[in-house]
Amino acid sequence: MQDDLDRILFDEATIHRRLDEMAAQITDCYRNCELTVIAVLNGSLIFMADLLRRIPLPLKLDCLSVASYHGGTKSAGEVVFRQVAFPDVQDRHILLLDDILDSGLTLAAIRRKLEEANPRSVRVCVLLAKKIDREAPVHADYVGFEIENEFVVGYGLDYRERYRNLPFIGVLRPNSSRPV
Ligand code: IMP
Ligand code: MG
Repeated sequence: MQDDLDRILFDEATIHRRLDEMAAQITDCYRNCELTVIAVLNGSLIFMADLLRRIPLPLKLDCLSVASYHGGTKSAGEVVFRQVAFPDVQDRHILLLDDILDSGLTLAAIRRKLEEANPRSVRVCVLLAKKIDREAPVHADYVGFEIENEFVVGYGLDYRERYRNLPFIGVLRPNSSRPV
């Protein structure tokens, strides 16, 4: 798998050091309220597991699964919620976790849907944010790393469902011989 990468952007130790900082910030912020974490599957799974084990607070964990159609056959920006049971968010302090903020369409749609269900607060936490003009502006309260506009994989992030299990984050080689 590593042969398909152009270079490593963030190695395991760098990611873990940053997670220590993010977890400390989140812990400080939610010390006096009950936190509900909502993780967006599948990309945030590894990030979520490593981050939450650094937050020594009582918290609830829920997951959401969405499919995004950005300029495919469906209209751009449509997000379909796959999970039948939508998490209970009423009166809760929600921390929404995702792997990467790119166009913003996915997180903007999720945030809108969550806010319809009357949470007490919603904050957004992403491991990566691309430095681009977003199609849907989304404010991320916690950002692990800002990156250039390149396609990255590993540490939960995929290219066609591959590479999620790489323990680091790397840039995919544009013309690698990776299978489709
Ligand atoms: P957005 O709606 O364009 O912000 O896209 C968010 C989703 O697109 C993320 O949760 C990822 O699943 C996927 N995505 C966007 N950029 C990348 C990337 O560089 N590598 C892997 N997945 C990405
Ligand atoms: Mg993905």
